[in-house]
Amino acid sequence: MDIQIDEVKSILKKYNQEHLLNHYDKLDDKKRTELLDQIRNIDFELVTELYNSTKQQKSNNRDEITPMNYLDKFKLNDQYKYYEAIGKKAIKEGKLAAVTMAGGQGTRLGHNGPKGTYDIGLDSHKSLFELLSDNLKEEGKKYGVVIPWFIMTSRENNKQTIDFFEKHKYFGYQKNKNIFFFEQGELPMMDTEGKILIGEDGLVKLAADGHGGIYESLVKTKMTNKMRELGVEWVFIGGVDNCLVKMVDPVLMGIAIDKKVTVACKSVVKANPHEKVGVFCRRNGRPNVIEYSEITDEMAEATDENGELLYGESHILCNLFSIDAIERMGAEPLPYHVAFKKAKYIDEDGKLVEPDSPNAYKFEAFLFDAFGEVDDMAVLRVKREEEFAPVKNADSAGVDCPKTARELYKKYYHLD
Ligand code: UTP
Repeated sequence: MDIQIDEVKSILKKYNQEHLLNHYDKLDDKKRTELLDQIRNIDFELVTELYNSTKQQKSNNRDEITPMNYLDKFKLNDQYKYYEAIGKKAIKEGKLAAVTMAGGQGTRLGHNGPKGTYDIGLDSHKSLFELLSDNLKEEGKKYGVVIPWFIMTSRENNKQTIDFFEKHKYFGYQKNKNIFFFEQGELPMMDTEGKILIGEDGLVKLAADGHGGIYESLVKTKMTNKMRELGVEWVFIGGVDNCLVKMVDPVLMGIAIDKKVTVACKSVVKANPHEKVGVFCRRNGRPNVIEYSEITDEMAEATDENGELLYGESHILCNLFSIDAIERMGAEPLPYHVAFKKAKYIDEDGKLVEPDSPNAYKFEAFLFDAFGEVDDMAVLRVKREEEFAPVKNADSAGVDCPKTARELYKKYYHLD
């Protein structure tokens, strides 16, 4: 143990993070070992770089942004059946798997527990996880297959998530046969002085590294190998918080296969030109998503010869990837974005601090930052009322909240 401590102390000294051992003596043996392991696993060079990035002025972006072509699912005419037939064949052959990203903290919703366990208030009181599983099972039946389901959790919610599934008998799925759980990566949270925070448990305060962590964690946890073993070639990756998500879409799949692209994404047209959503674009010629904050009013309002918004295709976290594309995207680290959040921590005197305003930096990668890794991708516009009912905020926000999602869900399934 002494050798280990000495090794850890010298790492901490080098990066000016010696305070992480301040309360070491008060921890039990198990936690002491855990803390030392945590520290040894931190990439301090990266963490220092990330902290420095919070102090740098963002340079004026000189990227060249141009519109991205898309297909409208309901204007495909004869092509619809053509693509659909290709996709149906592949699904019947067992080539599709679904991944649900459920590692987020769900801070805006404020639910005590993993977001997927949230009951949006339907008469059935089904959780988001159950609503998603209903859809996946139903679709699988149409093609005579069970679509393998992969759930990404974070260290913070992994146990609660698996316990929930266990309690609900995995909604008919079989653990490690056709439903799999894997954890995403984490990064330490830091205060405004660049000190890594100590959490309530006396350990390093870690937070999930954003939905962009999906590619690396699918590869690292060997889920991509598992998919190949199962004969899977295409993977739909979606969020846990869209209760109308359609993970099985033969038209989307048929387009990807026919057009020989390795990524195919769904979009819904913006509710209005200034809706606060990211939209598909090309950045320096490569596929990408541009945030609403990066777009000028002029760009937001620009239309084509048919009156359609040039930057109107919202990214709704409904994306289909070939396994090769996932592996390619997981090979290179993505840029991290910084968020300033409220985070409880243990101070120098060992006291718990519960801030009422943001005090800590959290670093997150975004899934769409990897889109530029592929040469081309397809974007398919679908109908918002059929595929997009997000649960982001508490009801008090009035938008993208349980109430609005419930209404959309009921309308789509004619539940009233
Ligand atoms: P959001 O970006 O909406 O984040 O995630 P969130 O964690 O659910 O909510 P807030 O921002 O804290 O209020 C979109 C999807 O990506 C997943 C979420 O679980 C959700 O399905 N996600 C997000 C992860 O799986 N891991 C992350 O680190 C972040």
